[in-house]
Amino acid sequence: MSVFEDSSAGVPHPHKLKDVDLFGPGAEELWYDAYAILHREAPVHHLPGEGLTPETDAFILSRYEDINRVVKDPIRYTPITSLMLEQMAAARTPPENMDYINMMMVSMLTLRPTVELWRAHRKELTDPWVGPGAERHRGMITRRVDALIDNLPGAGAVDFVQAFARPLPQQVMAEVLGFPESDIPQLAAWGKAQVMPFVYGEGHLNRLTDEQLASQFTQLDGFKEYVQDIVRSKRQSPADDMISFLTQVTYSALNRKLTDLEINGIVYAMVLGGLETTQYALEQQAQLICDRPGLFQALQADPALLRTFIEESLRLRAPTQGLSTRLTSQDEQFGEVDVPKGSVLHLRWAAANVDPEEFECPMDLQLDRKAASRHLSFSAGPRVCPGAGISRLEQQIAWTRLLERLQSMRYGSDNTFLHQPGIMLGTLQLNLELVKAA
Ligand code: HEM
Repeated sequence: MSVFEDSSAGVPHPHKLKDVDLFGPGAEELWYDAYAILHREAPVHHLPGEGLTPETDAFILSRYEDINRVVKDPIRYTPITSLMLEQMAAARTPPENMDYINMMMVSMLTLRPTVELWRAHRKELTDPWVGPGAERHRGMITRRVDALIDNLPGAGAVDFVQAFARPLPQQVMAEVLGFPESDIPQLAAWGKAQVMPFVYGEGHLNRLTDEQLASQFTQLDGFKEYVQDIVRSKRQSPADDMISFLTQVTYSALNRKLTDLEINGIVYAMVLGGLETTQYALEQQAQLICDRPGLFQALQADPALLRTFIEESLRLRAPTQGLSTRLTSQDEQFGEVDVPKGSVLHLRWAAANVDPEEFECPMDLQLDRKAASRHLSFSAGPRVCPGAGISRLEQQIAWTRLLERLQSMRYGSDNTFLHQPGIMLGTLQLNLELVKAA
């Protein structure tokens, strides 16, 4: 059965491999149908001439085992960003003279050019704030969640995305970083510009046209200067937030403090990764609950089930469905398929998560699934998502409080359930009928 019963976008259902196009217009309505075909007929799916250059190829990997192997070995399967960093370093052009290079890439050049430094970067710079250390934000996130629930009507219709799923990660990341409350709308606009390639980018490489790229950088105008001002002021008078921390910390891997521009790059990465991903997770979780009679009540009756619910929902509805982020550094074989050196690997996390070889009854949401967190929605290995900790915490607190403070939740009217284009799985609107508990 299809997860998305019918493609209301008018895109024909894929039946055979030749119908499968994960990146065409409307493809996002039928992705899970396509994954079943890929698993059956082409778990290593060849895209001739679609590598980084026209004479090289790309391959879509959809098996759990293959993707898990790739992400755990960054030497054999080079992250494409590492290659770009090598090229940037070799060009010896000062980053400020490079066209369309964002601050995140610039800071990677000095802070994490190797696997060892990548690990140190996570451990020393991001883990204390958005990784395992995110626990320090529990009180703040709970206050934010409660304030959003306070603003919901006592009973009636609400767009869950607008009223809850979108503002929560925006507010949380602004407070974690140390941005003033009044700047959240501007921050959200910059976040939107940053994710443009993942929404409008073409093909598996999410390529923007020159025009789109120029427009993205125009929309991002001012972001760097804005962050520079905040960094400078926090260096003078640090507060209890991530940017202040980054101005004071000694990065022991390099035995020095961070420059203003390096901090700017880390902030860029936090805004890019931290907003829409968690929004889509929350929105899809609401759909999973509305789709399954009795699930809301079961979770209310036993909140200990929430942990598995969240992992299962991340598995079944991976917010980031797939990314072309690795390159083979030698000739490889995946199953029967030869993959030449220099090929791009598109890692389809969402398909790996419903691989029947790895997950029994893969399309079922099972609240008693063993080791449910082994899904690949946050990837794995040395490049695993650094923000998984804070995202999971936001989801955990959001559903704990929603289940405590709502009496019921069901679909409202006028939902199209159409997904936004691009590589993320999510709808931009979700009308719900909510009744608050007395
Ligand atoms: C449900 C929410 C999220 C999902 C599904 C998600 C997923 C991912 C995935 C699949 C990757 C690629 C890893 C690889 O190439 O192996 C990634 C990387 C990344 N994520 Fe997340 N992410 C989420 C939330 C967040 C949050 C909340 C933040 C920031 C606070 C964040 C920051 C990043 C960054 C900066 C990277 C790039 C890797 C790096 O610079 O170290 N993500 N994420």
